[in-house]
Amino acid sequence: MSEAPRTATLTIDGTTYDLPIHSPTSGPDVLDIRKLYGQAGVFTYDPGFTSTASCESTITYIDGEEGVLTHRGYPIGDLAGKSHYLEVCYLLLYGELPTAAQLEDFETTITHHTMLHEQMGNFFRGFRRDAHPMAVMVGVVGAMSAFYHDSTDISDPRQREIASHRLIAKMPTIAAWAYKYTIGQPFVYPRNDLDYASNFLRMCFAVPAEEYEVNPILSRAMDRIFTLHADHEQNASTSTVRLASSSGANPFACIAAGIACLWGPAHGGANQACLEMLKEIGSVDRIPEYIERAKDKNDPFRLMGFGHRVYKNMDPRATVMKESADEVLELLGVEDNPLLQVAKELEHIALNDPYFKEKKLFPNVDFYSGIILEAMGFPTSMFTPIFALSRTVGWISQWKEQLSDPAHKIGRPRQLYLGEDVRSYTDIENR
Ligand code: CMC
Repeated sequence: MSEAPRTATLTIDGTTYDLPIHSPTSGPDVLDIRKLYGQAGVFTYDPGFTSTASCESTITYIDGEEGVLTHRGYPIGDLAGKSHYLEVCYLLLYGELPTAAQLEDFETTITHHTMLHEQMGNFFRGFRRDAHPMAVMVGVVGAMSAFYHDSTDISDPRQREIASHRLIAKMPTIAAWAYKYTIGQPFVYPRNDLDYASNFLRMCFAVPAEEYEVNPILSRAMDRIFTLHADHEQNASTSTVRLASSSGANPFACIAAGIACLWGPAHGGANQACLEMLKEIGSVDRIPEYIERAKDKNDPFRLMGFGHRVYKNMDPRATVMKESADEVLELLGVEDNPLLQVAKELEHIALNDPYFKEKKLFPNVDFYSGIILEAMGFPTSMFTPIFALSRTVGWISQWKEQLSDPAHKIGRPRQLYLGEDVRSYTDIENR
């Protein structure tokens, strides 16, 4: 016998309204307020979307209290340990882990889309040499809509698929070229015999004057960083992509919007900000000063790499990232790196400090990723572009999911207007 649908009752000035309750596969129940304005003439108010589900999704689930993250049902620890990035990309895009044949086919497709239209090189050269690579990425990815017209018709599923493949394939080339341009080195073209992560490392670090051998441990660590950042349900940049897409904008424009949002220090920009903070702290004896500043309500300083809107427990990505950091630092022989000493001590102090304990502020993924990336030789300005290239598959999977829902609508939040009521216009000479 099927259960009767559950409802919640809202009473406004003595009139009651029944709101349907949806039960998700996991996570809290969701009150459906879609008809509320039509029936009761009121809006709900939730700046920052702290209690609002903006869409239905089957891609990623986070249990912030327990520190759980799954993609299509698979825990992130399993995916980071047993799969590799392109396998996870397939899972996110198509909903299931690929068979060996499907994976081979997908890898071939992605590998054969990694080159950029040759004229795009001119586009890079239009930027100032000191441009932040994120500025270059926002511009270049947006400009893809001008280079790949044959994959901008969002009503055609095949074009949507080609755009998805192009974005996943070309993003490492774009990020690497943004880096090469700012350091004044020639662009390195992708090579089809290399895997996704090795190709990226080579495009970043090879120079024409000498051979570049990709270290498999570094390539594995790079791949794991990509995997750990692949998707994170309805975060700010993903919601930005969905909102941009809701107007019917083309995929390249939508992903450029996501990159722009990711850039902020409260989101993807935190990895750069975190490493810069560790450098500023400089030595273990200065940590208490920064902890006090983070706790001071009158000081805007926050401990970068700590806290999360959803996780009120250890970020599961941070757990894997920490293991990876140990592995990479040992390989590179930099375990005594002073930055790492500061990071370890900061983590220890913050995890035991009553302020951080009470507010459930744990290290997040950005706390450890910067340490690995710096040890690998990336400048801090490349940290967020690497996050952007990793997250592209998440954005594009969420975009694809949204477009395949026939009921999707343009996103149009309402507001709590607190401005002036209608008033008489005053001519300029009387103001
Ligand atoms: N250092 C010191 N205090 C903090 C921190 C921090 N890093 N994060 C939160 N708090 C305090 C905050 O002051 C507030 O205190 P009170 O309740 O007394 O006003 C309380 O904790 C809750 O903070 P919030 O700002 O209301 O929480 P939020 O969910 O809006 O913000 C956050 C989440 C990630 C923006 C925030 O924790 C933060 O700014 N962290 C530092 C930046 C960072 O590491 N971001 C990366 C997030 S993970 C990767 C990603 O998503 O891109």
